[in-house]
Amino acid sequence: MCALKITRSILWQLSNYTLLQAQTTTQTIANSIRFYYTVKRKVAKDENYLSKHLYDKIRIKGPITVAEYMKVVLQNPMQGYYMSKDMFGEKGDFVTSPEITQIFGEMLAVWFLNEWQKIGCPKPLQIIELGPGRGTLSSDIVNVFSHFKALHNASLHLVEISPVLSDIQAGTLCLQSSLNNNKNALVYRHGISRHGIPVSWYKQLKDVPEGFTLLLAHEFFDALPIHKFHKTYAGYKEVLIDIDNSEEKEYKFRYVLAKNDTPMLKVLLKSNETRDHVEISADSLLIYEQICQRLASSGGIALICDYGHNGTGTDTFRAFKKHTQVNPLVKPGTADLTADVDFSLIRDIANKTNDVLVFGPAKQKNFLQRIGIEHRVKALAENMEDKKDVEHLNSCYKFLTEESKMGERFKFVALMPATMKKIIDKYPVVGFV
Ligand SMILES: C[S@@+](CC[C@H](N)C(=O)[O-])C[C@H]1O[C@@H](n2cnc3c(N)ncnc32)[C@H](O)[C@@H]1O
Repeated sequence: MCALKITRSILWQLSNYTLLQAQTTTQTIANSIRFYYTVKRKVAKDENYLSKHLYDKIRIKGPITVAEYMKVVLQNPMQGYYMSKDMFGEKGDFVTSPEITQIFGEMLAVWFLNEWQKIGCPKPLQIIELGPGRGTLSSDIVNVFSHFKALHNASLHLVEISPVLSDIQAGTLCLQSSLNNNKNALVYRHGISRHGIPVSWYKQLKDVPEGFTLLLAHEFFDALPIHKFHKTYAGYKEVLIDIDNSEEKEYKFRYVLAKNDTPMLKVLLKSNETRDHVEISADSLLIYEQICQRLASSGGIALICDYGHNGTGTDTFRAFKKHTQVNPLVKPGTADLTADVDFSLIRDIANKTNDVLVFGPAKQKNFLQRIGIEHRVKALAENMEDKKDVEHLNSCYKFLTEESKMGERFKFVALMPATMKKIIDKYPVVGFV
């Protein structure tokens, strides 16, 4: 059976199940947003906490890199943007594809099932998600896997730095979970999913045990710190962040250029670089390398979805607050900081050893349509009785696939071990051709 036929057959088998799920969803959600859980943890809020912290840091050690600024703003244990609140949905700062409709997660599950079946469904199976947000995508994927009885000897591994989000993920995925009292343990929380598989939480990917893996990273890499470089008459310089003393205002920051070559400029910038602005995430490079090593040594399939470019992007560092783009240097910690992902760097890392094959980037619109989202939406709509549900379904579909919405900017890249080449030559990876 050709790969696409397998996908269609999986989709067909899924249709009854998804109808039930979709009806519940469309009845209970408003404006495409799902709210599963309310955060109980309260963190004392001081809007100036991070500004003061950064101000003191820069006063003592001088201008800092954009990566260091992002790390403090997003990951500071006390009040980092990701550490202390739920930022998703209509009332938050942004919305992501899995939060718009469960069809997104289900299509990705179908894709994984299809590719996994092609290689004979190796077990035990580890499903890893990097940066799982509210846990919605993992939940939708595990639901589909359970429908196909694919969860025997399977486990879910979540890499998440945010204590607040890990609470929410546990609420989404598990009936019960508990925090590990041993602060040095690699697994800081564990639980059993509603479908009975073990779920473990880690701070970093390298802590997840080796094993055959289906790995997913959706809007994860865009949240990792980047270094910024700017082309000047005197060659490239790293962009730094300094205190701005030009006004009397407290805690103002500004961009400056490093006078000398910084270590990261020497390490990260390619000698043949020509763009005026270049952004490189050293943290992402490390994780791409870890993913490639994991796939090469233990086998598996990885799917990375994010907004980004193929080595052509320039000045993309920005901030979002309440669904509006704002200045990243104003009120740090109150807005999400993000930068487009450079997918060409994934290929560069994979090509270093030739142990891993890279597919894509493919536009979200093309990827979802090639894996059959239209068939699914049509099948669901045909079984819906309420016109409003059909309208809602269609608007979600358009939001995910229209080029002016999420269809063009969001892209998919898949990684597979080079040992799978023969199978892939015979049954090409669905979604990329
Ligand atoms: C933009 S959200 C995306 C959430 C989810 N994947 C989605 O698409 O709805 C980024 C996620 O990555 C997590 N995160 C950010 N930096 C991280 C890091 N260095 N290590 C682990 N998780 C991180 C955040 O806490 C959050 O769960």
